[in-house]
Amino acid sequence: MQIAMIQDKIVPIAELEPAYLDRGIFFGDGVYEVVRSYNGKIFSLEEHMQRFANSLSAIEISGVDIYQILRRVLKSFDASGISNAKIYFHITRGSALRNHVCDADLEPNFFLTVTELEDDSEAKSKGIAVSTHPDWRWKRCDIKSLNLLANVLARRNAAQKGCAEAILVDEAGLITEGASSAFFAISGQTLQTAALTANILSSITRKFAIKAGKNIGLETIEKSLTLQQASGADELLIASTTNDIIPVVEFDEKLIGDGKPGKYTKLLTREFLSFTV
Ligand code: PDD
Repeated sequence: MQIAMIQDKIVPIAELEPAYLDRGIFFGDGVYEVVRSYNGKIFSLEEHMQRFANSLSAIEISGVDIYQILRRVLKSFDASGISNAKIYFHITRGSALRNHVCDADLEPNFFLTVTELEDDSEAKSKGIAVSTHPDWRWKRCDIKSLNLLANVLARRNAAQKGCAEAILVDEAGLITEGASSAFFAISGQTLQTAALTANILSSITRKFAIKAGKNIGLETIEKSLTLQQASGADELLIASTTNDIIPVVEFDEKLIGDGKPGKYTKLLTREFLSFTV
């Protein structure tokens, strides 16, 4: 008899819940998305669905009806009754006994949660400290893959240093992005962030932060920052779906500006939030 063991219990393989054999667990073989709502309205859903479709196609999971996924997102958001919600969903290649190669007709698994967004008002009003960490990720960070071990380790390291985000640094000493956010510096009247390459995620908040920056008169430079440029910037900020814009006031223990959220970051945040209503 082929068997499995879950904690202390022996279970015949034939009786295992398919979730135990999910390729997402064995290999991180899947892709995900995170969208959020502001006061009952989901922000930028179309862009997120498009990126999800791109991620699915990049890892060759085919046959997923993206409109069905969209309907599931809307249905579950509606059912939750949560007005400021975080909606997480993923698709994995399916469930099967562990083997790197699997049948082409495996049925993909879909999973979604709708949860209340955590209160980030303190981080927004006071700003956060960040620390740098080597970017140990693979070479296709443009795919929103379930393989997040390097991101998790970087975040753990930051947390151990009392920091709220890890800023990832590549082998050339250039900043790619945050472990779960885009990273920006403001110096003078310029807003700088890494260019979109396979080394970073095509962040949707990044796109709207750039638009907000333009609207308030900042020139955009899409070029990776060195550690020196980042720590010497007038203002720093991170951007992500769950927290939109968060000011960064400490970078590797060095205070940025006067250690308080900067004036352009505040203006940019206000402009960004105007897109969400
Ligand atoms: N993370 N870069 C990385 C590596 C990310 O994981 C994320 C988002 C971002 C910001 O992307 P967007 O603006 O599209 O959310 C950039 C999500 C929120 C997460 O993993 O929970």
